Amino acid sequence: MSTNIERTLGLDIVRATEAGALNCFTWIGRGNKEAADAAASDAIRGTFDQIDVAGEVVIGEGIKDNAPGLFKGEKVGTWVEGAMRLNIALDPIDGTTNLSKGLPNAISCIAASLHVDPTDEGDEPTGLLDIPAFYMNKLSYGPAIRDAFVRDPSLPLSVDTPIEETIHLAARLLSKEVHDVVVMLLDRPRNAHIVEAVRSLGANLRMVSDGDITAALAPAMPGAGIDLYLGIGGAPEGVLSAAGMRCLGGGLQAKIWPRDEEEKASLIDIGWGDKLDHIYLSKDLARGDDILFAATGILESPFLDGMTVTGRMAITHSVLMRVRNRTVRFITAHHNLDHKYIPLRSKHQKA
Ligand code: FBP
Repeated sequence: MSTNIERTLGLDIVRATEAGALNCFTWIGRGNKEAADAAASDAIRGTFDQIDVAGEVVIGEGIKDNAPGLFKGEKVGTWVEGAMRLNIALDPIDGTTNLSKGLPNAISCIAASLHVDPTDEGDEPTGLLDIPAFYMNKLSYGPAIRDAFVRDPSLPLSVDTPIEETIHLAARLLSKEVHDVVVMLLDRPRNAHIVEAVRSLGANLRMVSDGDITAALAPAMPGAGIDLYLGIGGAPEGVLSAAGMRCLGGGLQAKIWPRDEEEKASLIDIGWGDKLDHIYLSKDLARGDDILFAATGILESPFLDGMTVTGRMAITHSVLMRVRNRTVRFITAHHNLDHKYIPLRSKHQKA
């Protein structure tokens, strides 16, 4: 059995995100999040039904969502004998609300890691860490800042550092003026203190109404014009972003952010009490090198262009990347809809 995740999965994982994106296109702007999510999930399941891997969803639809997506524990792939074992984290649509309103910023996204059973007790765990919380407080930055931090870990670059200090540090490391630093965040009342801090410094603010995977990856995307991503967003999205960020060579830090005392108590109950103050780096959330990340743009974002359909031709923009070699492939595909076959699980029930 090959253990080369890239050779085995190759373009298949991109075909899955493309299929997810293409199949929810008709739901853009129709105000029906659930139908869009169901359509994307159906196509992703159907595509995996044709791939000879033994995949298990380890991070599916967020626990905060009550959406018709793929859920933790679900098996995907053909599971033929000898198939490569994979752990899958996915968000069939990140930015479902945007999609339902026809607003910018929605992608279909999958990370896959090689499933490795630890053989010795001391073995470092690998793969995508399932954080049992709704939200995490996140900070991400591009390769220039990450490299400076690797060279000098004493730099005050942390998700716990006051926002103003982080922005000043980013300006210094990027040789910019503070008023030229661009900070992206999710527009939520819980992130209002960041808005205030950015504005009081005269730095630049870019808010997204939903979809913080693209926002967290934007600082590492050449040409996106974003220097920092800050703020509290979904925990599963944080792990997917960590996988992507490791491929792009930027950095991401995240800390569990319990919504209330009840969630905090339940995290303590399940043995996560000592993790509440832990700052996770991207390599703690997406562990090991055998990780692939793929995403297809549905509606344009700072990370990927959106799909377009002209006549019977659909054009998708995707990215496929791998942690081990940090190769980042941008794939533009022209799909002739008269000939295109999107495999749907609902049409070909799995035996
Ligand atoms: P979905 O599209 O998967 O529902 O997620 C959208 C999203 O904006 C995420 O990108 C983000 O991490 C999370 O929701 C924020 O959660 P909330 O909307 O509860 O603030």
